[in-house]
Amino acid sequence: NITTKTDFQEFLHNGIRFVSPIHSVEQLDWANEYKVLQDDVFIITYPKSGTTWMQQVASLILGNNDIDSVKNKSVYERAPWVEDCLFQRRLDSQTEPQLLTTHLNYQMSPNALKHNVGKVIYVARNPKDVIVSSYYFHIYSQFLKTPENFEQFLKQFVEGNVLYGPWFDHVRDWYSHKDEPNMLFVTFEEMFKDVRGVIEKVANFLGKQLDGKSVDSIISCCTFKSMKENPATNYQWVSRTIFDHNRGTFLRKGTVGDWKNHFLVAQNEWFDSICKERMADIPVKFYWDI
Ligand code: A3P
Repeated sequence: NITTKTDFQEFLHNGIRFVSPIHSVEQLDWANEYKVLQDDVFIITYPKSGTTWMQQVASLILGNNDIDSVKNKSVYERAPWVEDCLFQRRLDSQTEPQLLTTHLNYQMSPNALKHNVGKVIYVARNPKDVIVSSYYFHIYSQFLKTPENFEQFLKQFVEGNVLYGPWFDHVRDWYSHKDEPNMLFVTFEEMFKDVRGVIEKVANFLGKQLDGKSVDSIISCCTFKSMKENPATNYQWVSRTIFDHNRGTFLRKGTVGDWKNHFLVAQNEWFDSICKERMADIPVKFYWDI
């Protein structure tokens, strides 16, 4: 029943920012206790890190390369968000393994995943491109406050006062579990450089055999161009009360290194120093450019 931007209300849960009526405390707690099935597959990302891209890849692999499904069923129906109030009823009655998505941090994610039940594909992206993508997403989304300017948004992001909380903690916590047997860690930049390699890695992780022809066909459905033109992946079907289609597109630029067009030299140096400090204890390396 959302009609205007003011129907969305931000709130904090466990110190992390969420927005109603997309989220609720009840739904978040339900997601944390979600009864994961052994063959459930979770795509886990910090927002704007390549979620949709991996939803497309994984749903094609699991759906045996069913091209019609990627045209006729939106990505969020193919891989629903476990913390989204829209999906609780549907997921509650599931007895078949599902492809699911979450942006939740490690602590708030379904606990079963931490006990080797279900599989996790975590996609991370270099934080400077996440910030730029997220900045435009805040302009496009009706449920997020439009930033005053890039400088203001950069500060807000670094402070973690954004939906789903601080990027640093999200990536650090998930990365530190990347060697668990039920987890695969990939990066947006890896997908950009070698999508075939990532598709094969994901298929292998999911125990699916793909011949060269199937991989070719999956690749053709996962290019930026084909996903941008496909209403089932570009969020064109989503109502204007959620996304203002006059102010942007969900698939925006799809590159590595767009941050260079947005960060001033001083902002870049400042962010590098923060990143060094906040990520000091983990060896994760990002490609800033390809
Ligand atoms: P940009 O805003 O930099 O273009 P998410 O799905 O997690 O919200 O991430 C969205 C980002 O992934 C957007 O980044 C979008 O363009 C990019 N993306 C989605 N599909 C892509 C693809 N097939 N190739 C390259 N980038 C893609």
